[in-house]
Amino acid sequence: MLFPVSYRVNAAGHMEVGGCDLVDLAREHGTPLYIYDEATVRQRASEYVAAMGEAGQVLYSAKAYASPHFLRVVADEGLGLDVVSAGELHLALKSDFPRERIHFLGNNKSVEDLESAYRAGATIVIDGDQEFDLLRDIVPEGQRTPVMLRLSPGVKPDTHDHISTGQLDSKFGFSIESGAARAAVEKALQHPRLELVGLHSHIGSQIFALDAYADAMEIMLDLLVQLRDELRFEPRKLGAGGGLGIAYTRNDDPPTPREFVETVRSAMVAGCGRRDLKVPELVVEPGRSIAGPAGMALYTVGSIKDIPGVRRYVAVDGGMGDNIRPKLYGARYEAFLASDPDHAPDGKVTIAGKYCESTDILITDIEMPQLKPGDIIAVPAAGAYCLAMASNYNGMPRPEVLMLGDGKARVMRRRETLDDLLAAEVF
Ligand SMILES: Cc1ncc(COP(=O)(O)O)c(C=O)c1O
Repeated sequence: MLFPVSYRVNAAGHMEVGGCDLVDLAREHGTPLYIYDEATVRQRASEYVAAMGEAGQVLYSAKAYASPHFLRVVADEGLGLDVVSAGELHLALKSDFPRERIHFLGNNKSVEDLESAYRAGATIVIDGDQEFDLLRDIVPEGQRTPVMLRLSPGVKPDTHDHISTGQLDSKFGFSIESGAARAAVEKALQHPRLELVGLHSHIGSQIFALDAYADAMEIMLDLLVQLRDELRFEPRKLGAGGGLGIAYTRNDDPPTPREFVETVRSAMVAGCGRRDLKVPELVVEPGRSIAGPAGMALYTVGSIKDIPGVRRYVAVDGGMGDNIRPKLYGARYEAFLASDPDHAPDGKVTIAGKYCESTDILITDIEMPQLKPGDIIAVPAAGAYCLAMASNYNGMPRPEVLMLGDGKARVMRRRETLDDLLAAEVF
């Protein structure tokens, strides 16, 4: 699924999402412009919730993309939320996200992070010894706050090294292999201000091979046996993280949310059965696989530079400031001419951004039809970790963001102004 579920080519031959013509939207709202298809967000979120059923809880990972209306749609579909900073939590609370469904993660939480998480009543997922000490001061005497522990199961999934997190050599999680996980559980159980409700893991992101989750589950369950036998502790919740991959190009064929949940759940249920363990509540926290396929970036073609026999550069009005992923992870995207997406290709081009870095290339060597300045280019699968990592590098305002559905475009985030760029400056 490269395109949003409501995508089609309309009678004008233009790309259309949510009943809205993307060429018209680009003209009316300007570019770079990010659009989300509400139907896709709801379809992906509800597929997770339906697959999970009564077996546990689905959280949306806010780091993939968050804005008030987007979070309301996610909450409306029954999901909880995974946040990793006081800032993400602030946005969630301002968006009226149900606070009892929020989990607060992060490998180096500040006092401010932990205080805000405690005040909000979020479940804190402890990731590091220092948090035990900080929470002793934050949680008042006589109270206990619900926590989980982030563990590192020592599994290396088949994904880019930079988004692989579950192996021993990682900044995330208490390692099971080294004994740190068992020690952390013991510490949490003895802590006077904590109620240990569960254990958590997240092995990486953009994962296609689901067996890595089954492997991680086996390792977690072996630990559970040890914890039951040695510490008489059986967790109420078991977190398997997020990480399901999505299609960025037409050659990608990722598993579905249902297949992901069923793999993890059956590994957990069967593994508990084999070990005679109580089956915990399963928690998953997908981000990319909900926001990613719902989003598209629209750019306008500007300068075109031919280097005969070498390369044809087509520059667009965005780039690494709104999508750093090609440079951060070597991510690969497709691009389409929004006014005629099925037009036959005319040759290879390299789509460059407008930032003052020679590495600011969105797509290298992609077959495109003949392009001219003013053409609108659409990049699918741009809904996750693009705007979320956007910057104002080179003094560029961040793009406007729309939610599309039923032929209507709702502005979720307005385009930044030049004065927004100066908002925190002291003159
Ligand atoms: C702890 C944790 N949970 C969930 C996610 C969401 O992952 P994804 O967006 O790949 O589903 C991440 C992303 O890196 C993460 O670090």
